[in-house]
Amino acid sequence: MDAGEIFAEPLLDLGSQDEALAGILTPRSALGAAKVGVTAQFLERADEYHRAYLNVEYWRFLLDKALTVAGPPADPALIIDIGSGSGNSVIPLAERFPNARIVATDISPQLLAILRDFLRSGAEGTQRFSLVCVDAASARYNEDVADLAVGAAILHHVLDPARVLSACQRALKPGGWAIFFEPFEAGNTIVRITYQRILAQASEGEKTTAAMRLLERMVADYTVRARPKTDPIFRDLDDKWMFTRTYFERIKAEQGWASLVTYALNVAPNLLRNQAEVHLKLGAQLPPSSLPEWAWSIIDETDAGLSDDLRQEWALEAAVMLKKATPNRSTSPQ
Ligand SMILES: C[S@@+](CC[C@H](N)C(=O)[O-])C[C@H]1O[C@@H](n2cnc3c(N)ncnc32)[C@H](O)[C@@H]1O
Repeated sequence: MDAGEIFAEPLLDLGSQDEALAGILTPRSALGAAKVGVTAQFLERADEYHRAYLNVEYWRFLLDKALTVAGPPADPALIIDIGSGSGNSVIPLAERFPNARIVATDISPQLLAILRDFLRSGAEGTQRFSLVCVDAASARYNEDVADLAVGAAILHHVLDPARVLSACQRALKPGGWAIFFEPFEAGNTIVRITYQRILAQASEGEKTTAAMRLLERMVADYTVRARPKTDPIFRDLDDKWMFTRTYFERIKAEQGWASLVTYALNVAPNLLRNQAEVHLKLGAQLPPSSLPEWAWSIIDETDAGLSDDLRQEWALEAAVMLKKATPNRSTSPQ
């Protein structure tokens, strides 16, 4: 299937504007459109982002479990990957479904160019891949074209995730699944409260250390994200949402999806310690030793105070899977 048959409007090759982007397509209406709510980390600084976050193995692991839970399509002809970036979920999907055509979409042509170069360097080339630069909330797909839609850490970057889900629903064939992996509010609220406890106990001297400053920034960031998404601040912030199951239940009802499945990711007895280590590393390139032992004791105590069941329910991150309804067949007698 040609990518032009998947979108409800003609696609142009960005190579006609910029040689470095040859092979990356875009819907005609997206040409020159402002990239609202997306910052330089995904655009001009795409190389840096790619190096920091490339982790195909992790996404393969998450996808394998989600596909087991959903019941994978037997031999999907077409998969749409939303917010593909440089390919963390595209690559495992391509490995798992060797006959599928894969449409990798992203608002960042720079990240798609990194994916294009990776695919070109492989034995398979780009033959069964289409790379399409498009805002996930504005993408206009044809109806009932895709067997599966996947988005790895994309919905929380978008001002209006409901529009992304609606676009996916249109593109999916009846019975097809849309699978997302997203941050959730409940687990992150525990992280925020734990960091606030640590900051409240830190001495004036400790508060000036790089690690405590990072915790302070994280608390400020969590607080901002609680604002209504109509706040203009979100036009300058990449991370916009932390979700609840209730949010997706509302969308399921409003949009008429057949099923909703959510489950927590990375559940472990030392969940909060693991998360704090990731925050220190990715947020400020700091080792665990940058936080004092007493602060780790607070984190470990909080971890120990959560039951396994609560860790499942209060996800930090969760898989969110929505299944498109199959139209009712009339059974009226002839
Ligand atoms: C956290 S990254 C995830 C990338 C990739 N899925 C991965 O797992 O590595 C989020 C991606 O969403 C893209 N993005 C942000 N806003 C978008 C939008 N409105 N439409 C499409 N893509 C968007 C970014 O360019 C970035 O590639």
